[in-house]
Amino acid sequence: MERLPLWAYYGRVDLKTSIAMKILITAGPTREYLDDVRFLSNASSGRMGYAIAQAAIDAGHEVVLVSGPVALPVPAGCELVSVEGTRDMYDACLARFAECDGVIAAAAVCDYGPRERTSGKRIKTGQSITIELVEMPDIIAELGRQKGPRWSVGFALEAQDPHRRAVEKLHKKNCDAIVLNRTTAIGADDNSIELIDSTDTTVAKWTGRKIDIAHRLIAWIAATLAD
Ligand code: C5P
Repeated sequence: MERLPLWAYYGRVDLKTSIAMKILITAGPTREYLDDVRFLSNASSGRMGYAIAQAAIDAGHEVVLVSGPVALPVPAGCELVSVEGTRDMYDACLARFAECDGVIAAAAVCDYGPRERTSGKRIKTGQSITIELVEMPDIIAELGRQKGPRWSVGFALEAQDPHRRAVEKLHKKNCDAIVLNRTTAIGADDNSIELIDSTDTTVAKWTGRKIDIAHRLIAWIAATLAD
């Protein structure tokens, strides 16, 4: 009989067969405020990150979930660290990474934010205004620099030339694997992903409910990246 890797058996074996890990997961969008009431953000619902947190708990792992603002129930058993801004997410992740075995970065982080936040509410002048945006810190890239023996898995949401761009991000951010998904994933219950490892090989293609993909991803990480 053909011998399949352990993760391929997910669903047919007890999910709690692998060694328990402590996993840092980022999820949801971040917000960058222009003034006290307006912000830049994106349409991320956080569902993929929360599904991964749930799947990790189901598999017997400990989870620190660093989440931007979302309207989702927190998976029972995981530790939630709620954040709003990109720098808050960055600080929370750097503070907690050392105690974890690895990180899965599913958050849709703002790439840019206003250089200055106006206090109160900006007044409409009848004129156009220009807002200077500065680049935000790249959280998974920094964790990738600091990771030592830990593992890191990133996400890439790409519309054009997806495979090449995902591979570029995988190396730039020093990830052990990257999950490539498409813009149709935003806000949806289902997803269609390609999992690419650090040798640029597509090791899996999964389509289905986000929670099912999350279980497969956790099983793959436990079988492939964990000690
Ligand atoms: O936005 P981008 O396509 O670069 O996101 C790719 C990966 O990097 C995702 O895993 C995302 O969570 C992570 N990221 C991050 N900090 C940023 C931007 C992206 O951790 N500032």
